[in-house]
Parts: sequence; C-alpha cells; structure tokens
Amino acid sequence: MNVVRAPGRVNLIGEHIDYCGLPVFPMAIGRSVRMTFQPRANRETRLTNRDPRFPPSDFTLSDSIPPAPAGDWSNYARAAGQTLAQRFPDLWGVDALVESDLPIAAGLSSSSALLVATALAILHANSASISPLELMELLARGERYVGTAGGGMDQAIILGAQAGCASRIDFHPLRLTPTAVPAGWQFIVAQSLVHAEKSGAARQAYNERPRQCDEARRLVATRLGRPDDTTYAALLAAASVEELLDASRTLSAVLARRFRHVVTEGTRVRQAEAAMAAGELTAFGALLDASHRSLRDDYEVSCAELDQLVELAREAGAAGARLTGAGFGGSIVALCNVDRAPSVLAALRERFYAPRGVGGGDYVFTAEPSAGAEVS
Ligand code: GLA
Repeated sequence: MNVVRAPGRVNLIGEHIDYCGLPVFPMAIGRSVRMTFQPRANRETRLTNRDPRFPPSDFTLSDSIPPAPAGDWSNYARAAGQTLAQRFPDLWGVDALVESDLPIAAGLSSSSALLVATALAILHANSASISPLELMELLARGERYVGTAGGGMDQAIILGAQAGCASRIDFHPLRLTPTAVPAGWQFIVAQSLVHAEKSGAARQAYNERPRQCDEARRLVATRLGRPDDTTYAALLAAASVEELLDASRTLSAVLARRFRHVVTEGTRVRQAEAAMAAGELTAFGALLDASHRSLRDDYEVSCAELDQLVELAREAGAAGARLTGAGFGGSIVALCNVDRAPSVLAALRERFYAPRGVGGGDYVFTAEPSAGAEVS
C-alpha cells in the first residue's frame, strides 16, 4: 500500500487571471486529500471514499473515459486517468481509498487535489515518470474534462508548493518562484457556507469570465493597433495600466469592468510578492482589500456572505482580506499578525458562524504554507 497526499491551496492574490496568462500568487495549505492505493494488474480503477456523500466509482483507463454525470466527484479522477492514458499508453489502474480534511466546494481546490492525487497514484503504481512542470500543464488541460475552462494555478501549486512559502506562478512558460512567508504573518481561511462547485452550479458563471476577458483583450489590442492575439502579458509590458484602461473605454460597461480587474490584479500580484519579500504586512493587507473590491465590483464574483466575512475580519484586526478561489461562494483569506489571529478567529466565530447556528464548527482555521503533493 502507498499513500499520496495532495494539499489544498489558498490563493493569496491574482484571482481569475491565470487563464489570462498572468502570474498568480497562491500557497498550499496543511489540509489535503489522502489517497491510499495499490496497483491492479488490469486497466480498471476502483475508487472508494470515506465520505459517504461520495459513492464508490469504477472506470477503465483509456484515452477516452466516459464521464459520470456532471458534478459527480469521480470526474476529477476520470480526468486524471484519461489525461495520463493519452500520454502513457497501456497504463494499469489502481484500487484507491480517498480521505480528505479539505472542505469541498469551498474555494480551496479540493477537486484539483483529488485530480492530482489520482494522477500521482496511477503514475507511481505504473513506475511511470514525467517532469513536474509537464505534469502540471498536462493536468491543467486535463481538468477541462469536467467542463470548466480553468487556468493552470491549482495543479501547479498543488504539485509544486514549497513548505513555508507562497509561490508566484508564471505561465507560458510555466514556472514557480517561491517567497518565504514571514514568521509573524498568519493567514486565516473562513468559509462563507455558500457552496461554489466549479463543475456544478457555478460552472456557467465561471466559464463566462474567460470568454469575456478574451473578448476584452482582443478589442483593446486592436484599438492599440496591435495584433488581436496580443496577450495580456504583452499588453501590460507595452503600455501602462492607465493607457490600457483608457483604451478600454470603448468596450461595453461589463467588458470594461472585467478588463480593469484583470490588468489591475496583474499589477497587484507583483506588488504583493514584493511586499511579502520585504515583510510589509500592512501593504500586503491593503492589496488584499483592493483585490476584493475589484473582484466584487468589477469582476462580480463575490456574494453577500463573502463581503460580510471580509468586513468582519478587517474589523477584528486583520491587515486585509478578500475572497479566494473562483468565488460565487467558497472562502475568504485574511492576513493578520500572528498575535491578532486568536481575536480574528473568535470574532468570525461569534459574529458570522454563531448567528447561523454553527459557531462550534470547523469553518474558520489558520492556513500554514505547506509542501506540495507527495507519495509515500
Ligand atoms: C479556479 C480555477 C483556477 C483559477 C481560479 C480563480 O480555482 O481552477 O484556475 O482560475 O478559479 O482564480
């Protein structure tokens, strides 16, 4: 028997811009999906889950695995199986038991953690090897099997995180650059209790965003006299944010707002990375706040519960807070000095969870920068 542990992640800043090819800045957390597995001598894969909400599921490894109904948990494992079978013919399957202390549909990438865990189990069981960067890219594309047009952040950080660090992830080409999280900084995650299932109800709203960003990018590039395949990174390298926002004035109001989020969030990522490297907690917190406003007003992926959590965390002494992950529900991340963490946690329990009758639940917790996935 072997075990693979694939952590969840909390994105610190750079939200909804990975699919625009712009850098993002997440970290892996201590909570994870654990998969205990053993190789089989045929192409069947049999999954069971300790959580009774997720019934057993079997499939045959092939380069075209039929999906279970939309929203079924096993589709993330099927996505991994199909993707690897396309890359390595003749893979044998595994028997696997899944356990997790990661909340689901909470913006912490439990689904990508399951995908990565399955991939590592199958690779290990077959003694197949592949470079980490190739695997990250393969699995990012492979996850589209579930119908979500996501970017590459989640698979990259789950596989490539370093303990004690957040990582800037650049795309085209993919690379990870770690920055140590300063000792006195404490990140806190708080769930909104609104489920944000990327492959379920939130899928349409999620997928609409990459389409809008792409259209906005094409229109602005054309307006600036550049080819319509000019990337966001190339636009930001060629013009100031002000010039880009000026060129976006002719877009529809919705597209102009989406565009403004992308280019301002892109600049906040660089500033946040520098603030962390310099230990400037107040500056990092202010960037979290600005990111939340942008996601709420320009990108329209927040909800009343997330906005309330952000407010409460700040009132309780956090340096800043914002929604994290795809939004539409899910969780917030707040940053505070480690001494303030007990009072922020207590305030959120008293003022957000207790009035909803779940004050004693495990819905708010500290998030420690953790290592990426590993097989033992
Ligand atoms: C989901 C996707 C990621 C990213 C985030 C939003 O988690 O899987 O690729 O787009 O949403 O930042």
